[in-house]
Amino acid sequence: MQNVVIDSVKTVLGWVPERWLPGGTPDPLIMRRGAVGRQVSRLDGPIKVGGQARFAAEVAMENMCYASLLHSPITRGRMRHLDTSAAEAAPGVILVMTHRNMPRLDIIPLVSVTNLGAVGASALPIMQDTEIRYNGQVVALVLAETQEQADHAASLIQIDYETAGARTHFEAAKATARTPASVLIEKNHTVVGNAEYELAQSPFQVDNIYRTPGHNHNAIELHAVTVAWDGDTLEVHDASQMISGSAAALAKLFGLKKEQVRVLSPFVGGGFGGKGMWDHQVVAVAAARIAGRPVRLVLSRDGVYRIVGGRTPTEQRVALAADAGGNLTALIHTGHSVMPPYSACPEQYTLTGRALYRSKSYAFVQHHLDLDIVPNTYMRAPGESVGTFALESAIDELAHEMGIDPIELRLRNEPETHPLSGTPFSQRALVQAYREGAERFGWARRQATPGTQRDGEWLIGMGCATGSFPYARMPGASASIRLTREGRAIVSCSAQDMGMGTSTVQIQHAADRLGLPMEAIVFEMGDSALPTTPMAGGSSQTVSIAAAIAAAAEKLSGELLRLAGNSSPLAGLRAGEVRMIDQKLVSIEDPSRTESFQQILARASRDEISVSAAGSAPLEMLKFAMHSLSANFCEVRVSEVTGEVRVSRMLGSFDCGAILNPKTATSQFKGGMIMGIGLALTEETLFDERSGRIMNATLADYHIPSHLDVPDIDVMWTGVPDPRSPLGARGIGEIGITGVAAAIANAVFNATGRRVRDLPITLDKLL
Ligand code: MOS
Repeated sequence: MQNVVIDSVKTVLGWVPERWLPGGTPDPLIMRRGAVGRQVSRLDGPIKVGGQARFAAEVAMENMCYASLLHSPITRGRMRHLDTSAAEAAPGVILVMTHRNMPRLDIIPLVSVTNLGAVGASALPIMQDTEIRYNGQVVALVLAETQEQADHAASLIQIDYETAGARTHFEAAKATARTPASVLIEKNHTVVGNAEYELAQSPFQVDNIYRTPGHNHNAIELHAVTVAWDGDTLEVHDASQMISGSAAALAKLFGLKKEQVRVLSPFVGGGFGGKGMWDHQVVAVAAARIAGRPVRLVLSRDGVYRIVGGRTPTEQRVALAADAGGNLTALIHTGHSVMPPYSACPEQYTLTGRALYRSKSYAFVQHHLDLDIVPNTYMRAPGESVGTFALESAIDELAHEMGIDPIELRLRNEPETHPLSGTPFSQRALVQAYREGAERFGWARRQATPGTQRDGEWLIGMGCATGSFPYARMPGASASIRLTREGRAIVSCSAQDMGMGTSTVQIQHAADRLGLPMEAIVFEMGDSALPTTPMAGGSSQTVSIAAAIAAAAEKLSGELLRLAGNSSPLAGLRAGEVRMIDQKLVSIEDPSRTESFQQILARASRDEISVSAAGSAPLEMLKFAMHSLSANFCEVRVSEVTGEVRVSRMLGSFDCGAILNPKTATSQFKGGMIMGIGLALTEETLFDERSGRIMNATLADYHIPSHLDVPDIDVMWTGVPDPRSPLGARGIGEIGITGVAAAIANAVFNATGRRVRDLPITLDKLL
C-alpha cells in the first residue's frame, strides 16, 4: 500500500513544474545570512551548566510518590500465581499495580511512514493480562512514599511463572522469516538487471557476509516521567523526542480530549531514537490516576535495557563485481535482521546501496525475523549505520582485490543521478568532500599494502568509507509568531531539543527570517500546548521547523502589509514582494519603499500581532534524490601483541548542505563519529539465545567509548547549500555515525591484513 501511494505521488509530481514545488525557488535566506551560519554557543548552555534546567525526573510536585517496576525474568509464558500481599504491607507503599487493577487500555498506534503522528514503539498490550511476551516485560508497578520503599516493596512481589517455548535463536528464526513489501518509503525487494549473472561473469568480485550485533540505547539521561492528574486533565513531564504525538497518544489511550493532556519536555539528555513512548509513561499515568497523587518514574539503567528496545542484530550479504576498468557491474545487498510484528523499526540497512553507486545491475532485499524480544527500535542512523559497515567494507575489499585506491574506486562509480530511479540529486558534492578530506587527512601517506607500517609493536593503518543518510522533512509542522511593538518576536512550536541545539539554531533562523537581532527572539518549545511539530527523528527536525517558521513569517508579512494600509509606502505590495530586514518590511523590487514594524503597529494602534501557519508539504523529497553524505577517514594502531585497537586519528568530511551553526554542527558530527567508534570496536548487546535475556544490561558490561578511546576528531564540510531545502540545509544528526565503522574496519585491515566482518572488532578477533 505504501509503495502504491508513494509511486503515484511521484508520478504526479513528475508532471508538476519545478517552480511550483517547495525548493523550486531556493529559500532567499540561503543567500542572505546574518545569524545563520554563525558560530553560536548553545543558548541554553548556561542554565544547564548552572543546574537550572529541569529535566523530567527533576520536576518538583507536592504530594509526589515514587514508582518502581518489576520485570519478568522469563521470556515466554504466563503468571500462574501472583501474590502482592507482602508488597502491599511494606512500609510506605501506596499502590501495587498489576494486570488485575491496571485500567483496560488499547494499544498505542505504531509509528510508521503512513502514520507519522503516531509514537508507539511497541504494539504489545501493557499490563493487560497474565501473558509474558518477552524477557523484561513490566509485570508490576509499586508506588511508595520514597524510591527506596518502592524498590524494596517491588522485590517482595511473589510470582509463580509457567514458562512456554520462546523464539530466541536468530539462525532458527530464518525458517519463518518475513519479507515485507516496503522498507520505510522504499520498495524492499528491488532488482535491476541480473546481478548474480554479472557477479559470476565479471573479472573481479567480492561476496561476503557481515554481522553486526544488537545495540542498546544509553542516553545520559535515563528515561523518566513525572505525571500529575488534575481532575480529568493530565500533565506529563517526559524525556521525549516526540512531544505532540505523545500527548495525542496518551489522550487516545485514556479517553481524553487532546486539550486535556499536556506533555512537557523542554530539556532532554539525549534521544538518538530511543526517547519515544514506551510502557513506562503509560503505567505511570495509570498509577497516578488510581493513586490520585503525582508520580515520578525513572527507569534504572537496567530498566532501559529491559523495556526500551535497541538496535537489532543484522546479518548482511554484500556482493560486488567490477569490470577491468573498475566500473561496478553488480551490487547485491541482502540480509536478515530482527523485527517482530509488534515493532516499528525495519532497520533499513540496504537503503544506502540504492543511492550511492552506479552499477550495471543491482539486487536488494531485507528479511525480518520474529523473536520474542523487547521490540527493536530506531537508534542513531537506523539501517545506514550498520548497512554502510557492510557496503563500505565490501568496497574496500573490492579495491584491494583490484589493486585500486579505495577512494578512486568510489569516485569511478559516482552516479550523475539517483542510480536506480534516475531522479536528479538536489545537490551532491561527495567528490569534493573526498578530495578535500583526503588532502587534510594526509591520505597520500597511506601504504596500499597492509601490514607494512609499524611503530614498535603497533601496526598502523588508514581506512576510509562513505556515509550516507537520506534527507527528510516531516509533514505537519506548524509554528506561531507573536511580534510586539517593542520589536520582540515570540516564536512557538512544540519542538524538542535533546541537546543538539534545536532552540539555538531556530533562534538564529528566526532572527534572519524576521529581520530581528537574535536577542529579540524568544523561542518557546518543548510543550504539546504549542503549535504541533513532528518528532525529532530521522535528522529532519531543523528543516521541518524552519519550513513552518518560514510559512508563519510569510503570513506575518501579509498581516503587517494589511495593517500598514494605503498610507504606507508599502501600499499595494503583497507578502511575497517584501522582505523583513533590520526590523522593517522592505520591497524586494524597490528597497526605498520601506516601513518599520514599529511604525506599522503604532499607526494601527496595535501592541502586537500574532500569526500561525503550517509548513509546505515536503514534496522536494519525492522530486529529488536528497542525501547527507560524508567521507570518513581513520587511522588506527593495532598492537601485534595484544590485538588491541586504538583509533589514533579520525576526520569526517561532510556534504550536508549549508551548515547553520558550525559549533553545534561540529558537536553533532563528533558525537555521531564517537558512536561510530562504539559500533566498530566496543558496543554489543549480549543476548543469551538460550534464555532470551540481555546479559550485559549495565554500563559496566556494555562498553561505550570513554574519553581515552576517543582521539582528537577533525571535522570539515563542503557547506554547499542545497537549493531544494529550507535554509539550504540537510540533516546532520545521523550522518555522523554512518560509514565510521567501515572506515575503522578498513583501517584495521590496512594495518594488519586481517579483515573483520563481524562487529565489534574486539582483540580476540585479531589474534
Ligand atoms: Mo534518530 S534514530 O532519533 O537518531
